[in-house]
Amino acid sequence: MEIDQPLKAIQYQRGSLLILDQLKLPDETVYISINTGADAWKAIHTMSIRGAPAIAVCGVLSVAVELYHSRSKFDSISSILQFVTDQLNYLITARPTAVNMTDAAKTIIDYLIPLNNKQQNVTLYINELLDFMEQFLQRDLDNNQSIGKYGAEAIRQNVKDKKKLTVLTHCNTGSLATVGFGTALGVIRQLAVDNNLQLTYFTETRPYNQGSRLTAYELVHDRIPHTMICDSMAGLLMRTQTLHAVIVGADRVTANGDTANKIGTYQLAILAKYHEIPFYVAAPTTSIDLTKRTGNEIIIEQRPSSEMTTIKGINIAAEGVQVWNPAFDITPNQLITGIITEHGVFKPEELEEKLISLQRT
Ligand code: MRU
Repeated sequence: MEIDQPLKAIQYQRGSLLILDQLKLPDETVYISINTGADAWKAIHTMSIRGAPAIAVCGVLSVAVELYHSRSKFDSISSILQFVTDQLNYLITARPTAVNMTDAAKTIIDYLIPLNNKQQNVTLYINELLDFMEQFLQRDLDNNQSIGKYGAEAIRQNVKDKKKLTVLTHCNTGSLATVGFGTALGVIRQLAVDNNLQLTYFTETRPYNQGSRLTAYELVHDRIPHTMICDSMAGLLMRTQTLHAVIVGADRVTANGDTANKIGTYQLAILAKYHEIPFYVAAPTTSIDLTKRTGNEIIIEQRPSSEMTTIKGINIAAEGVQVWNPAFDITPNQLITGIITEHGVFKPEELEEKLISLQRT
């Protein structure tokens, strides 16, 4: 099948950044203008934009836009370096679990420091920096395409009838969570484009319904065959239907392959193991954090109770009820069949070594 232009979570041109307000979907399509790092921090924190890669790109481009509009105020290279570093470090604090913003900040700061010695002209320095930050858009797009291809191939590999693949995904990992086609949903899109996809099941993803609000929106928009289930239906689904793979995204993968992703991922991985269904994590290498050895070191974000107790401002739980609302969980490496990256599909136990050798090349 052919897929038309994917939805755009981020629209950017030099000096202008617009993000699709995902809190208003699926009812309204409203773009919000992001003019400063502070605007981006708020949009990320409140989840007008969400999904690990989209958070990073939005954060980086917000600094680019603010820098562009305030360029006449800078009179030294060191003041620009200070401004950019402060903004990036501030943006990292908007949400703690996804590592992509931290990775982006490190990449930019590592680029900036040697540039200080090479470029002394403030205008040229700003232009070079803007060019560099803008590359995050294309890089994410390229990553999505490679992940889609490697992932589709891995899923097809052990299946006899490649025309009839049925998969399950969780949360939203598509165009709304990235710049391009998505990670896990990008693999599913690739299977659809290759005419290998019979059906994709996806969870509504309680408590904040990224499945029913966002993945549903994308799958309907792209006319990809789908069936939505409540999170609690996954066990029966795996017991009664043929599923060829479960495929999810990641917010942070540690050196040993443990993976933080949307709450509910862990239970899907346990179910998949029990039912002998391959369980894949699809994520760009910017989601891999080799500074953390295991998932125990990952900070799990706690979200407001209102995300559980209300839907669109309407109470769905008794007033005064006490709740626990962790936004992510950790899937241990032994439940993961493969981690699909833009460089190929790796087993959790080989991830660190592969990544280190890629960094050397
Ligand atoms: O809380 P969210 O909606 O930001 O959580 C998103 C996820 O858990 C995604 O699976 C992950 O960020 C990967 S998106 C390509």
